[in-house]
Amino acid sequence: MKDYNKRNLYFDNLHNQKDLKWLGQNTNHINSHDYVISEMIQSIKSQEFHYYAPPLGLEELRTLVLNRLGLKNLVSLITDGAVSALYHICKELCSSTEQLITTDPTWAWPIHFAQSTGAEVIQIPIFGKEYNYTLDPDRLKEYISKNTKLLYLVDPNNPLGTCFSKEQILKIVEIAEDNDITIIHDCTYRDFADDHHLIANYYPENTITIWSFSKWLGLAGMRLGTIVTSEKIMEKIAKTFTAHTISVLFYSTVIAEFLNIGDGQTINQKNVFEKNIEYSVDLDQKELWI
Ligand SMILES: Cc1ncc(COP(=O)(O)O)c(C=O)c1O
Repeated sequence: MKDYNKRNLYFDNLHNQKDLKWLGQNTNHINSHDYVISEMIQSIKSQEFHYYAPPLGLEELRTLVLNRLGLKNLVSLITDGAVSALYHICKELCSSTEQLITTDPTWAWPIHFAQSTGAEVIQIPIFGKEYNYTLDPDRLKEYISKNTKLLYLVDPNNPLGTCFSKEQILKIVEIAEDNDITIIHDCTYRDFADDHHLIANYYPENTITIWSFSKWLGLAGMRLGTIVTSEKIMEKIAKTFTAHTISVLFYSTVIAEFLNIGDGQTINQKNVFEKNIEYSVDLDQKELWI
């Protein structure tokens, strides 16, 4: 059997185990708020699924995203998942004469996307106490060449969970600025961090912020993510992007989640995450397979 089929069967098998305690894929499986469910039902009943969404996403959600991230002077685009955003960016911005730098470990898909354009990908090792499980800006400097076009940073890192401090970010921005490098800041796990700093606040013209609704809001099956960047970069990437792949039903859901955030649900979610971590540590100590 071909590897791609084996892989699919593995996940299909997982899907079919109804009693599975699903702690994988870093998603949140907490029941959605009644308000969110009722908005979804309402959207189905009014048959909104007949419509295409506007190409860059519904304006209401585009604005809510900018507000939530506090990046009001930039522009947003709604995508069918962060992965689709990353695919699109790599396809539009990488070329065979250029280089993308990321860490090792990192989230691997953008490596494949960049390589499929012929671009060279360099991974800087960060796994190990000697690296403090993070990227020291001085080490980054050593890897940069005249071909370096993009820097892909996953922050908090998947799989390490480490976050960049503000000092690290300021130094990385200085290096990127000196070498005219665009930073892709993948903040998919931002909402799980105690202290997170958006690179776009310090390098707005040349940063592409990626954010997802899959993990913290637990909407992985809905396929919704976002790109936030400058007008200059958006000009390049928006021409060939359309969010028509997203059902407006999904918009209703995410907008409802956003409007609902004020009632303390996310705080409760954080408690549940902490309990889940205790639960999995407990299982681990019992040497059970998770
Ligand atoms: C770092 C990182 N970026 C992006 C994604 C993709 O997120 P989405 O579900 O929005 O496509 C993942 C999913 O695991 C991830 O870990």
